[in-house]
Amino acid sequence: MSRALRPVGEPISTQQSSQEISTFFNPFKTHLYASGTAALAAAVGAALQHRPTQQPEVLLPAYGCPSLVSAIIFNQAKPVLVDLAKNKIELDSDDLATKLTENTVAVISVDLFGLPSVSDSHRQLLRQHNCTLIRDCAQARVLPTTITSDDSELIVISFGRGKPVSVLTGGAVLQPPNQPFKLPHLAAVTDTFASNLLTRLKLEVYNLAIKPSIYGFLEHLPIGLGETRYSQLEEIGGMPKPAIRYLLTNLNRASTVDGSALRQDYENLFSPKTSQGWIDLCQQSDPKRTHHLLRYAVLAPSKAIRDKVLATAQNQKLGFTALYGQPIPHIAGIPPIVGKPDHSAHPNATELAERLLTLPFYRGISATDLQQFSQAISLL
Ligand SMILES: Cc1ncc(COP(=O)(O)O)c(C=O)c1O
Repeated sequence: MSRALRPVGEPISTQQSSQEISTFFNPFKTHLYASGTAALAAAVGAALQHRPTQQPEVLLPAYGCPSLVSAIIFNQAKPVLVDLAKNKIELDSDDLATKLTENTVAVISVDLFGLPSVSDSHRQLLRQHNCTLIRDCAQARVLPTTITSDDSELIVISFGRGKPVSVLTGGAVLQPPNQPFKLPHLAAVTDTFASNLLTRLKLEVYNLAIKPSIYGFLEHLPIGLGETRYSQLEEIGGMPKPAIRYLLTNLNRASTVDGSALRQDYENLFSPKTSQGWIDLCQQSDPKRTHHLLRYAVLAPSKAIRDKVLATAQNQKLGFTALYGQPIPHIAGIPPIVGKPDHSAHPNATELAERLLTLPFYRGISATDLQQFSQAISLL
């Protein structure tokens, strides 16, 4: 059986905890939902309710997860795409300033790969427009010790597959203390003997499936692993109770995971490459390494080089990806309200989509793996 590295994701602890998670993020209030997408929809809904408008618009990055679009459309608001800053994961301040109107109720900024995406100038702009900042931290490790936010912000996390803290399902909105927004309260669902057993089974199967020997086999099955496509959100459900029981152990465990050695290895790998046009997004956005990474993200010198390196690495099953592959309007199934696919509308998001390469960032990446990564990026 062939060995394959998964692109993302730590093993999940299968130890339950009977302690409440409601106080884990103190002083932030924790609102749990069925998924990260449902949590985003709850946050958008709360922002809309706080400042009702006839034709509400919600701004989001032109490159990103299509779930953001689902969460906005679920609330009958119009998604408005904002370009990224050049060769960065954050919103372009000039384009943001242009797109902000009196109809803008909220702006979603995404901490892709775990990298910080909100700058002081973004915050200043949003304050002038009196709109809510929704920080999509689905890919970031959010810990009570490091979390900060001002009162006009909401933080969204996902506990889905491949996320920094995962129990394969669920999501949350973290709300700053004293903030008046009303978030839907949904009781935890499905707590039966069978659902508890099934949850446990899923976690065990997942932990098995991510082992390189088994993952190599799964990659051959037509189960759409890693495929990006739009899907409509039907309801904001509550988080299943059986999954909540594993949350606290996994939250506590995440705070003990230290990626600094692997990060140093990656920096060593890519720093000689910068003179050839490679851009180390992680080093660039977080030079002091204060953020925990979900994936190691770089930009290749060109689309042609990215595609060649990706093909080589995928052939060798090294866990490299191009993530979403294209800007939001080009993603399969995206509704027309987002606007026609037009690469010139968001040139920086398009360029990032064409040059992006993500490499695996989790415990268990060996020196031999890194050597293979180095060979794959040095072929040309
Ligand atoms: C940035 C971002 N936001 C939101 C989501 C949606 O989270 P979930 O899959 O839990 O619905 C994801 C999922 O991949 C994501 O990466």
